[in-house]
Amino acid sequence: EDPKKLAEFQAKIDAEIKIEPKDWMPEGYRQNLIRQISQHAHSEVIGMQPEGNWVSRAPSLRSKKILMAKIQDEGGHGLYLYCAAETLGVSRDQYLQWLHEGKAKYASVFNYPSPTWADMGAIGWLVDGAAIVNQVSLQRTSYGPYSRAMVRICMEESFHQRQGYEIMDRMMNGNEAQRKMAQDSLDRWWWPSLMMFGPHDSDSAHSSQSMKWKIKRESNDDLRQQFIDKTVPQAELIGLKIPDPNLKFNEETGHYETSDIDWDEFWNVIKGNGPCNKKRLDHHKKAHNDGAWVREAAAAYGLKQKNKLQT
Ligand code: 3HC
Repeated sequence: EDPKKLAEFQAKIDAEIKIEPKDWMPEGYRQNLIRQISQHAHSEVIGMQPEGNWVSRAPSLRSKKILMAKIQDEGGHGLYLYCAAETLGVSRDQYLQWLHEGKAKYASVFNYPSPTWADMGAIGWLVDGAAIVNQVSLQRTSYGPYSRAMVRICMEESFHQRQGYEIMDRMMNGNEAQRKMAQDSLDRWWWPSLMMFGPHDSDSAHSSQSMKWKIKRESNDDLRQQFIDKTVPQAELIGLKIPDPNLKFNEETGHYETSDIDWDEFWNVIKGNGPCNKKRLDHHKKAHNDGAWVREAAAAYGLKQKNKLQT
């Protein structure tokens, strides 16, 4: 690639000027965004499944309406993100094909099951809580369409985090069985939530280039620490115990210290061997195939409208 163009590109990044779809960009920058944004979009959409499991069994009409609205938001986030990813010159069909072929990843956390109602609380509170920390940082990403999608998504995500925390709070104010159910759910979702931020910075293949290009603004470990510092006091406030015997607050640094993550589990889930990987992907493929007639009908209608305008 032309060194002059590369230098001009980096100067724009350094000056905090957003890169827009028609601007010149290095091929590596484009490819990195194609990878990250599409994986982010897939995560939003696959993430609807663990919660979809509870729509028909929500304990009240109020909780059912809130859960449905939340899941619908996730679908919407996926759509904004697919649109942002399409500006990089790859079609949505192609992105979905990569997902179905196992070539594109999605967040590992969605490969865990959601067997109890408390999981609706833990997912909103922890998984969306972790997503917010990451996405607030990505509002300042250097690629314009991605950054703008993040602004809207973050506003909705904060409602999701609160609805999850509210469920946990109500359960902790309930009877012994409900408190146990909430604690069990935290025990199962705590570590997968910490894994959402990706491997340690030292093991993160893409981080250094992504930081240079300001695709990522903060490192995996820094964002994870922010999430831990924010979430531990929230757990304590409602009487939940973080499942980590080594958790302690370091007065000098002002941060919580934790045990290390089980990285074998993390890579194993990413490789496709988590408890629900196959189920999630099979479900997505089936829903996609079942929806083929909707896409065909929409395309036929679009063509009809276009012909009408021309006559
Ligand atoms: N789950 C699955 N794969 C992960 C992962 C995770 N938690 N963390 C890292 N990986 C993968 C990376 O994608 C990469 O694989 P690849 O080269 O095949 O693409 C590999 O592990 C190495 O990791 P890196 O740290 O080098 O990768 P990144 O620099 O891309 O950092 C990231 C990983 C922090 C997840 C970054 O991609 C990112 O910030 N992505 C945007 C945020 C996102 O995707 N969030 C999804 C979850 S939240 C959500 O969408 C739903 C919410 O509304 C509930």
